[in-house]
Amino acid sequence: MKLTVKGFEIHKGFLDIAAQRAMLAAVRGVVAQAPFFRPQMPNGKKMSVRMTAAGKFGWLSDKDGYRYAQTHPKGTPWPEIPEQILELWAQVTGLTQRQPECCLINYYDAEARMGLHQDRSEADMAWPVVSISLGDEGLFRMGNVTRGGKTESLWLGSGDVVVMGGEARLAYHGVDRIRSGSSTLLPKGGRLNLTLRVVV
Ligand code: SIN
Ligand code: MN
Repeated sequence: MKLTVKGFEIHKGFLDIAAQRAMLAAVRGVVAQAPFFRPQMPNGKKMSVRMTAAGKFGWLSDKDGYRYAQTHPKGTPWPEIPEQILELWAQVTGLTQRQPECCLINYYDAEARMGLHQDRSEADMAWPVVSISLGDEGLFRMGNVTRGGKTESLWLGSGDVVVMGGEARLAYHGVDRIRSGSSTLLPKGGRLNLTLRVVV
């Protein structure tokens, strides 16, 4: 089922359980080479999510600010983006000529959240951002292209895919909380979110 909320295209249940398991196995392959780390925000506080990435670029945050980087903090290049993730990108965006260069992987434990923000570190913000959710449900909040105003919230479950393009590409969004124990996909619980971005 596909619904559109404030320009965000939400594909509920895009991945069936077999596809979710296959996606999880692919993510584990990435994490084995590029372990999760907890980035520090420019204000010195640690983010509550754990992050890693695949692709030519990963995303880093530390006391010097936010940026894309071609290596993991341990100094090695990021693993390649798994094939089924690139296929999903082409399926939901229709973009076959351009692939994402970053697959950012965020892990939310029961206490993690992500404040309202815009995705605007990419060179050309005409390309959409695609988000894939696995594991526990997360309450996704969708706002506007400027701070403030009315927001709408929706629970994203395992296998849901969101396309942030058009008017939603620069809209504020965030994750207010995780519904711990709502999925059995991840044996230790929690939520994985993958975001696919064209960076350069
Ligand atoms: C993000 O905005 O980078 C993550 C969104 C999500 O976790 O659903
Ligand atoms: Mn974002």
